[in-house]
Amino acid sequence: MKIHDAFSRNIKVPFFTPWITKEDKKAVMNALHSTLLTDGPKLHQFEKSFAKFTGTKYAIGVSNATSALHLSLKAIGIGKGDEVIVPDMTFVATANAVVLSGAIPVFADIEKKTMNISIDSIKKKISSKTKVILPVHFAGKSCDISKINKISKENDLNIIEDCAHAIGTQYNKKHVGNFGSAGCFSFYPTKNITTIEGGMVITNSKNIAKYVMIARNHGLTKTLAQRYSHGKPWEYNIDESGYNYRLDEIRSALGLSQLKRIKKINELRKRKFEYYNKRLKGIIHIITPTPSLNNDHSHHLYILRVENKNKKSRDELFSKLLKYGVRTSVHYKPLHMFTAFSKFKKNTNDLKNSKQLYDEIISLPLYPNMLKKHQDYVIDSIIEIMKN
Ligand SMILES: Cc1ncc(COP(=O)(O)O)c(C=O)c1O
Repeated sequence: MKIHDAFSRNIKVPFFTPWITKEDKKAVMNALHSTLLTDGPKLHQFEKSFAKFTGTKYAIGVSNATSALHLSLKAIGIGKGDEVIVPDMTFVATANAVVLSGAIPVFADIEKKTMNISIDSIKKKISSKTKVILPVHFAGKSCDISKINKISKENDLNIIEDCAHAIGTQYNKKHVGNFGSAGCFSFYPTKNITTIEGGMVITNSKNIAKYVMIARNHGLTKTLAQRYSHGKPWEYNIDESGYNYRLDEIRSALGLSQLKRIKKINELRKRKFEYYNKRLKGIIHIITPTPSLNNDHSHHLYILRVENKNKKSRDELFSKLLKYGVRTSVHYKPLHMFTAFSKFKKNTNDLKNSKQLYDEIISLPLYPNMLKKHQDYVIDSIIEIMKN
């Protein structure tokens, strides 16, 4: 069976469909006609627009959010033996980036209500080796940044924010990613805007920006434009070996085009999120997610909880919805359960909420171009399954 068939067979409502407009396609085609296909003007325009959108000093485009996190950690000198506190409930990339930097991920529990990293758990996980707190603005909902800031100040720790879900999320009217040393964004196809693969580091630190800009391009001390504008293009230095974590012109053009309609995209997501909440609230054994307060939510994922104590489990809802032709998912399996991270497990007894929620959560289809009849179909199916 072809992969495509496996995804689409008998599916009435997919979990996600990308939203690529005529303008997006035109932007990509135009970029393809350029003589510079990477490290060129589209990247710089995209970076400038993203910096403006997030109200930050520097935005540096990279190949994905994992490389954004990796470079941000390296930029602040994180390496062997250092400990970085991450939430147990996140995509594996958050911890993989820590491992890539040579450091040790330490798993903290989450808050049940927001699914964000637990403040109490962070406090318990701090040791003499801790250097960074790496919160994830989970599903697009802002973490309690002022409390995390307080802990970081009291313990002399850095903060790197994983903003992969949080394009458009604000905390006290300031875009997330501006509260720590750096904020890291993903433009993977399911994210609020996409470059297909792509990411961005935002920072207000000149030194971090400089490191990320050089390290994303093999460590070359000069950009392509600098090398070809005057002098000899081969005369650059490598002070420190870097990576190929570049974001090319085609992807940048797509990102730029998508960023132009981020407000609309996020507004449509918000409306769909609120519609789910309105119609699903009050169904027995179902817990709906917390809505937005003052734009503190980009509504990246819609995650329901099915209380495990009754006979209708999350797994049952998942399989029955699939029979109805509705594809759902779980975000995420807790990190401490993966073999690759077993060597970093210190104490997992206290990861109670992530363990409990892993059995209860289910992510419903949510995308800006989702048709109302499809959303109604998902909701009606859930109502029917839960009452029978
Ligand atoms: C919370 C979180 N962090 C990091 C990443 C990594 O993003 P990318 O796939 O762009 O490397 C993702 C991707 O899904 C994510 O959900």
